[in-house]
Amino acid sequence: MSTFDTVIRLVYLAAATLFVIGLHLMNSPVTARRGNLLSGAGMTGAILATVAVLIEAGSVGVTAWLVVVAGTAVGSVAGLVAARRVRMTAMPQLVSLFNAAGGGAAALVAVHDFTHAAGSHGVQVSIPLALDVLIGAVTFSGSLIASGKLHGWVPGQPILFPGSRAVTIVAAAVMAVATVMVAADSGGLAALVVLGVAALVFGVTMVLPIGGADMPVVISLLNAFTGTAVAMAGFVIGNTVLITAGALVGASGAILTKLMADAMNRSIGNIMIGGFGTGDATAAIAADGGGQVRTLSADDAAIQLAYASKVVIVPGYGLAAAQAQHQAQELAALLESRGVDVSYAIHPVAGRMPGHMNVLLAEANVPYSQLKEMEEINPEFPQVDVALVIGANDVTNPAARRPGSAISGMPILDVDKAKSVIVVKRSMGHGYAGIDNELYTDPKTGMYFADAKKALSEMTAAVKVLVG
Ligand code: TAP
Repeated sequence: MSTFDTVIRLVYLAAATLFVIGLHLMNSPVTARRGNLLSGAGMTGAILATVAVLIEAGSVGVTAWLVVVAGTAVGSVAGLVAARRVRMTAMPQLVSLFNAAGGGAAALVAVHDFTHAAGSHGVQVSIPLALDVLIGAVTFSGSLIASGKLHGWVPGQPILFPGSRAVTIVAAAVMAVATVMVAADSGGLAALVVLGVAALVFGVTMVLPIGGADMPVVISLLNAFTGTAVAMAGFVIGNTVLITAGALVGASGAILTKLMADAMNRSIGNIMIGGFGTGDATAAIAADGGGQVRTLSADDAAIQLAYASKVVIVPGYGLAAAQAQHQAQELAALLESRGVDVSYAIHPVAGRMPGHMNVLLAEANVPYSQLKEMEEINPEFPQVDVALVIGANDVTNPAARRPGSAISGMPILDVDKAKSVIVVKRSMGHGYAGIDNELYTDPKTGMYFADAKKALSEMTAAVKVLVG
């Protein structure tokens, strides 16, 4: 092996090591930023090494170099602008677009290799090639639909048209046959085209019946698919760093998907079958229309909060939708300045994506030490004077403890065990699971019906007036 080859291999090894260390650092919000930077550095090294290999081989013409440079420039600028501009609530759809780009690119690598290879491939290439086109094309079309659903370009409700299940089954059968043909290196270009088209159709019909609020789980699964397709592309073109990076994305995406499904007490199969969830439609039920609820004024809430010793803030999707994280932090800081012990209870699937609440609260400079995971905070609720629930619904619903409801078995925050509860939301509207929350009719709960940002500002102002 030449010195050049050895150096390239060492760079690839260093890149893979940086990916692994970076992923490990993403375990905690405190080190996640550093983890991202390290992984980015690894990827930059891997790209530069690949460019060096191409220059050394001298096999790339001037036009191809122009395409590579223009593609890199356009892709980098588009990625940078999209990532900088995206609102936190729109992050899942951006990730989904990135998945579509990754899956589509991986599939195109295989198509290029298939159409440009001289003679037939051995099975060591044709099997990953078939799987690359299959998984890459499913990921591409499925991710576009998932992103469209979250963006509102495709209706968020589960979409099931007459015969849609039949179309999915036929597409799956055609896909399976074409995959075997391409993997066996028979059927030529026609089999490859059939495989690509069937996989694109399957991606669409697989995601359409899934409700908008389940999309983050689907996106995480498609993220795992992207990684797998990329790893297959690595086998097709013999690039080890592509195999490593793809395998890491595939494995971490699969683990995340399982964790999310477990935290919702749903199986991945149940989510993929679809038909669950309301697509985030807010049920505009009047404040006093949902049964015996007690409403609070800002002054009532201020008295409870200002004279409490221990307050736990329970953020949910509504906090993210209202972008009220700064107002929550302001109120918490004011209470702390009065000696109140304030912490935040973080449910693993509060909001609409993993880590949603952590990221939002970090944006408002809430100290990580105040964020408490569900297992840590639940035993503390009986000692909590006020649980302040801000735009959280399903993750606080005691109905989850009993069989027979849509969220039965889902682990919840034991908010109802606190001495008193203040719930901030705009109406008696349901959360994503589309069911009533009996916490709202609990005698110790006071409802504050308003947009979270407005409600928190009003409460902060009332506390200031109260304590002078
Ligand atoms: P949800 O149960 O969805 O409830 C959110 C509540 O926020 C709604 O009831 C809504 O009531 C309120 N709201 C909306 N906009 C608001 C605003 N501007 N101001 C104040 N309140 C507002 O949220 P959650 O408790 O965070 O639970 C998350 C749900 O999403 C779970 O069912 C979970 O399984 C599901 N899910 C989560 C994930 C991940 S990874 N996080 C992935 C898939 C599914 P009003 O309309 O009355 O205001």
